[in-house]
Amino acid sequence: MDDELNALRRTRMRWNTPLSEAHAELLLDRMALEAGQHLVDLGCGWGELLLRALARTPGLRATGVDTDLTGLDRGRAAARERGVAVDFAESDAATWAVPAERAFCIGAAHIFGSTEAALEGLTRVVPSGRLLYGDGFWAAPPNAAAEEIFGPDTLTLPDLLDVARAAGWRVLHFSTADQLEWDDFESTSRAGWQEWVAAHPADPRAAEVRDWLDGRLGQYVRDYRGVLGFTYLVLGR
Ligand SMILES: C[S@@+](CC[C@H](N)C(=O)[O-])C[C@H]1O[C@@H](n2cnc3c(N)ncnc32)[C@H](O)[C@@H]1O
Repeated sequence: MDDELNALRRTRMRWNTPLSEAHAELLLDRMALEAGQHLVDLGCGWGELLLRALARTPGLRATGVDTDLTGLDRGRAAARERGVAVDFAESDAATWAVPAERAFCIGAAHIFGSTEAALEGLTRVVPSGRLLYGDGFWAAPPNAAAEEIFGPDTLTLPDLLDVARAAGWRVLHFSTADQLEWDDFESTSRAGWQEWVAAHPADPRAAEVRDWLDGRLGQYVRDYRGVLGFTYLVLGR
């Protein structure tokens, strides 16, 4: 797909993770954010959760790190619109070495190579403080197609919690995305392109976009709905 279409695909997503507004508020409560702290979001996308954190905690210093310019530009525009200061940095989060009191790393463990590497590497970003960590896990045994999509490193929830503890984190809070959060995530991840094909049925790219949309929905309902879970951990050290 070309840049124009790629920029459109996620426009209907609030954030790029299965998460309701109420669940997000609960997680931000558990992060015990305070003015004067530095909060860094590694693999921030367009940083909507970072912007929400800043809105409820004036005086927080906020940095979002990502390599995707489309996301970073969306975040910068939202920060300007809301009149808040966020440093959106185009940088490889795997080598980010500025210590902070608070961090988010949501759906971005792959940046570090694996869950184990992410939870280990993030101890250097948060030497003392709290980390909101979001990651996928097997909620049910995967079929071969799901294993192929999500890779051999996906853990069960008990194993993921063991890995967090082994890396030196205390689990202060854990919750998982429910079915409605998942279904809404999947639907909104397709909505930008759904709207585009409806408006441009004769465009030469429409058939490819329709195939992609149908394929993604098919994979979800056939291979990983109810099989891939997603957990949010507030980890402390
Ligand atoms: C599933 S998205 C999660 C985005 C965000 N945390 C959220 O919850 O909306 C994963 C993000 O990781 C970013 N990413 C991938 N490789 C990266 C890297 N090496 N350094 C920084 N960000 C990276 C992608 O661009 C994408 O925005």
